[in-house]
Parts: sequence; C-alpha cells; structure tokens
Amino acid sequence: MENSVSLKEIRANEKIRILIDSANQVLERIGYTEHGTRHVGYVSRAAASILERLGYPQRTVELAAIAGWIHDVGNAINRKNHGMTGALLMLPVLQEIGMRMDEIAPILSAIGNHEEETGVPVSEISAALIIADKSDANRTRVRKGKYDPYDIHDRVNYAIKKNWIEVNAAKKMIRFGIQMDSTSSVMEFMQIYLTRMRMCEKAAAFLGCSFEIVINDTAINNQSPRIVETTENQSDVIM
Ligand SMILES: [Fe+2]
Ligand SMILES: [Fe+2]
Repeated sequence: MENSVSLKEIRANEKIRILIDSANQVLERIGYTEHGTRHVGYVSRAAASILERLGYPQRTVELAAIAGWIHDVGNAINRKNHGMTGALLMLPVLQEIGMRMDEIAPILSAIGNHEEETGVPVSEISAALIIADKSDANRTRVRKGKYDPYDIHDRVNYAIKKNWIEVNAAKKMIRFGIQMDSTSSVMEFMQIYLTRMRMCEKAAAFLGCSFEIVINDTAINNQSPRIVETTENQSDVIM
C-alpha cells in the first residue's frame, strides 16, 4: 500500500529504540525479567506469524509486527499501566514517522490492551499481540548473573528450556507449548501465568480458535485434555 510505514522503518527508528532500551532498564532496576529488543523482537515475530498462518492480509500482519515491537515502551515511564502510557507515548512518534491515523489507531488499542490487569482482545492485532507477549516464557529472560532461586518468576522462567506456538489454521487451534525442568513446577507456572493463560484463551477465541496449553507433553487446560502426540504435518510451529 502506498505511504505505508514498514516494520523495517519502525525497527530502525532511533527514538523508538531509545524508549525500548529505557523501558528495559527501568524493569531491570525493579527486578523484572528481560524486556529488551530480544523480548519485543520475539513478540513482533510471533504476533505477525499467528495472523499470517491464519490467513490475515499482509498489511494486518505487518501492523501486528509493528505493535509487537513497540508494545512495552510504556515501561519507560512506569510498570503500572504501561500499556496505556505506551500507547500515548507512541502516538506522536508514529505521527512523526508519517504513519496514517487509520493504521495508528489499531496499534494503539492493541498496545493499550496487552496487559492482563485491564486489557481485553479488542481486534485481531490485539489478540495476536496478547498471545505473542504472554507466550514469551523462557530461561533466556532471566537476566545474566541475576538468577534468584527465591524468586518464583526467576525459577519458573529458568525452568523453561523451550517454548513455542503452533497454529493449525484448518483445525482453528493455537497451541502454546513449553518444556520445563524441575527447577520449578507446573504448579508454580500456573501460579504466575494463570491470568495470562486465561487472557490467551480469550484472545484465541477472538481469532476463532481454541487455545491449548501443553506443558511437558501434556495438555493442561480443557481444550482437549490428552497426551499430545507429534503434530508434524498438522500444525506449523511458528516460534
Ligand atoms: Fe507489557
Ligand atoms: Fe511484553
């Protein structure tokens, strides 16, 4: 589309990069896991892949990727309400870059609705952003040299050796899988991820899909409780 601002331009924008770095520094100071370019890069790719696999138009896919890249900048102000502050922060920046308002608006509502405290899936971009963001659980998020065995977030994240999302467009199913070791437990995972996983179920429903959570090869929610077999040729592992 003419005059479309690309993901490449957004990723190359220095002001946005500074805000992402600043947000990550704020969260480091208050003891949160990694929220830098690795996290927002993952969320950007995952949100786009979910919509792409489900057959959404290419520009919608790219807008989801842009929303993923900038979704956490509000943390540069404060963790509390960072979805809403982030959306307000990005408005003048996206305008300055030259993005059209009809494309900015859905990005802002997706950013403003990605937090579990106040957010709900309000669009396909918002739904994909929620699933992508909440599925980024992995030991790489524990900051180097900062692992605290008495911190449940560190224990849970460190226990997760592998995480992935699968999208089965034909079956209208999105699966979030993790492999975790005994550093933590499924119980502890659910203690801190229950609200986020419920939000993902709602986001998947918005996209017309079921959402299955698989931990160590066992489905743990009520989408289809069974031992999961290999899904080759059925689903696309996208992340
Ligand atoms: Fe966030
Ligand atoms: Fe995030």
